[in-house]
Amino acid sequence: MFDLTGKKALVTGSTQGIGFAIALCLAQRGAKVFVNGASSMEKCKAASDKIPGSIPVKVDLSHEGCADEIYAQTGDIDILVLNASVQYRKAWDEITSDEFDTQIQVNLKSSLELMQKYVPNMKKQGWGRIVTVGSVQQYKPHTHMAVYAASKCAQMSLVNNLAAQLAQFGITVNNMSPGVIATPRNDAALADEEYSKVIYSKIPAGYAGTAEDCAGGVLLLCSEEGRYITGSDLIIDGGMHL
Ligand SMILES: NC(=O)c1ccc[n+]([C@@H]2O[C@H](COP(=O)([O-])OP(=O)(O)OC[C@H]3O[C@@H](n4cnc5c(N)ncnc54)[C@H](OP(=O)(O)O)[C@@H]3O)[C@@H](O)[C@H]2O)c1
Repeated sequence: MFDLTGKKALVTGSTQGIGFAIALCLAQRGAKVFVNGASSMEKCKAASDKIPGSIPVKVDLSHEGCADEIYAQTGDIDILVLNASVQYRKAWDEITSDEFDTQIQVNLKSSLELMQKYVPNMKKQGWGRIVTVGSVQQYKPHTHMAVYAASKCAQMSLVNNLAAQLAQFGITVNNMSPGVIATPRNDAALADEEYSKVIYSKIPAGYAGTAEDCAGGVLLLCSEEGRYITGSDLIIDGGMHL
């Protein structure tokens, strides 16, 4: 089960955290994985060195034309995991126009553009898997991440819309919504004992998940075993959305 031998996968934002765990998991099941990040080629290579058979692809998804740039380096693929995101923590009435644009570009627009790039060949071959990474904030938005939460809700709408249109071609489109996951993004927040106590009290399971907790669910959505799952939101959050 869950054999991805012969499949090519792109995982955006996979130099660390949840994206890295997903990329490693897919590679361990036989996929050839493209490892992506924006900050430096060195960081992409360092991550790729830990993922058997993978290829580093440094492309910043906050730029116009990023989909063309990344496609030029990967060619057609079978599995697209849209994991990269940007979030600015501040009150809704302090978000600047640039901060709005960057979050929408990376978290939403690049997802649409990458789907537009990769779906034609998936259609032609009659098989494809698309997984977007959303957030528990689709259900419980944080007061200081209003635009981030909105970008994830909009991405979920795209998932539902495209899932219905692409099922006839053997392509599934799903979202995976993590709750509080211990990744570099949350290092500082979770290191604060007082703050983390408050956060954990909001999670029925009582603790933060790991990136690996998210990877197994994404593997199911990317595999042949997940062929009848489409338009779903797999929430991996220890019950936080409830
Ligand atoms: N951690 C959580 O608690 C949590 C909760 C809910 C949802 N999520 C979602 O889960 C996903 C992964 O989160 P994470 O916590 O693993 O994040 P993270 O630790 O901050 O890692 C983010 C990854 O995205 C890449 N990235 C950032 N900006 C990019 C850009 N403009 N273009 C391309 N790549 C970019 C980073 O690469 P470089 O550093 O190399 O640029 C890095 O590999 C995100 O979609 C996030 O919204 C996370």
